[in-house]
Amino acid sequence: MKNFTFHNPTKLIFGRGQLARLGEEVSAYGKRVLLVYGGGSIKRTGLYDDVVKILDDVGAEWVELAGVEPNPRLSTVQEGIDLCRAHDIDLVLAVGGGSVLDCAKAIVVGARFDGDIWDVITGKARATGALPLGTVLTLAATGSEMNANSVITNWETKEKVGWAAAPYTYPAFSILDPVYTFTVPREHTVYGIVDMMCHALEQYFHTAENTPLQDRWIEALLRTVIEAAPKALENPEDYEARETLLYCGTMALNHILSMGTGGGDWATHDIEHAVSAVYDIPHGGGLAILYPNWMKYVLDAAPARFARLAQEVFDVDPAGRSEREVGLEGIERLRRFWTDLGAPSCLADYGIG
Ligand code: NZQ
Ligand code: ZN
Repeated sequence: MKNFTFHNPTKLIFGRGQLARLGEEVSAYGKRVLLVYGGGSIKRTGLYDDVVKILDDVGAEWVELAGVEPNPRLSTVQEGIDLCRAHDIDLVLAVGGGSVLDCAKAIVVGARFDGDIWDVITGKARATGALPLGTVLTLAATGSEMNANSVITNWETKEKVGWAAAPYTYPAFSILDPVYTFTVPREHTVYGIVDMMCHALEQYFHTAENTPLQDRWIEALLRTVIEAAPKALENPEDYEARETLLYCGTMALNHILSMGTGGGDWATHDIEHAVSAVYDIPHGGGLAILYPNWMKYVLDAAPARFARLAQEVFDVDPAGRSEREVGLEGIERLRRFWTDLGAPSCLADYGIG
């Protein structure tokens, strides 16, 4: 293993009915709340009303930033920062998917930064503090609820940048009730499944030695997602399947999987962010197209690793075949699993030449 320090300060509150804990959590940070949400799904599902009632019950004074885009934009971050300053906000509460959470992370840092937040996002300047951030997650995918990462798009420069400013960008608390993921549309459920699997895979392709537990954790997570995914798609209100996917999404990117491994590869994520920056496609869709191609591209650099993945996760029979052949079949099974769920497999599926 490589030496490591692990410190994840996010309080994770998970399970049915746990939204009821929101009031006590919010009250711990003050009265003035900026409520951040996306394009309106939380209004359609009733979550907005539930959250607002809790905020009113604890006497919070709240203002809102609505309309955070999938692939959240710098301009929306700036709006949120302005609201924090104008209303002397004590806590930012993000309610939605990874995009809403990522946008809120940039807002909390920007509200305590004397300058242009884009400089922090692009690494030209260091964060100098942050407002506390609470989240209520509605989509199993990114792991943003329990990590310090955020991904922001500057639409003017066509850049989509992943950044982190630990400890400031860790949510103070995140509430995850699987019931609020029942309404995630089929396509976004699939994108989330692909994304969490790719997070596990990115970490599987590391260069450390003697990592038996880390490798098995990743394989177990992948097998678990493969088992739960069809159930959630067949019956979107299958609580156990949604619960399993939600937990897998968090575990896939709260950095527990990469303790001692040095982190992993992440090339495909960087490539996907570049593609999304130009074409504004969903992150999970981009990954479904790119990841198997990246795997084929690097297969010969680590055939034993790919053969292991094929056997441990996809039950490929290695008898009488080379590591390369076994590895290649694993890649093909992964591709087939995703396309069977309905994920795209080539850029043309999004009309990209
Ligand atoms: O905007 P609303 O109306 O809320 O609708 C959203 C959005 O259209 C909808 N949705 C979310 N929860 C729902 C729901 N619809 C019905 N019922 C619900 N319960 O789903 C759509 C997609 O939401 P979005 O937040 O964009 O999806 P996701 O969670 O996949 O986040 C994607 C963003 O996260 C970044 C991606 O690049 C992308 O910008 N990532 C963030 C990471 C991180 N912070 O650690 C890591 C990832 O690798 C990723 O790059
Ligand atoms: Zn991702």
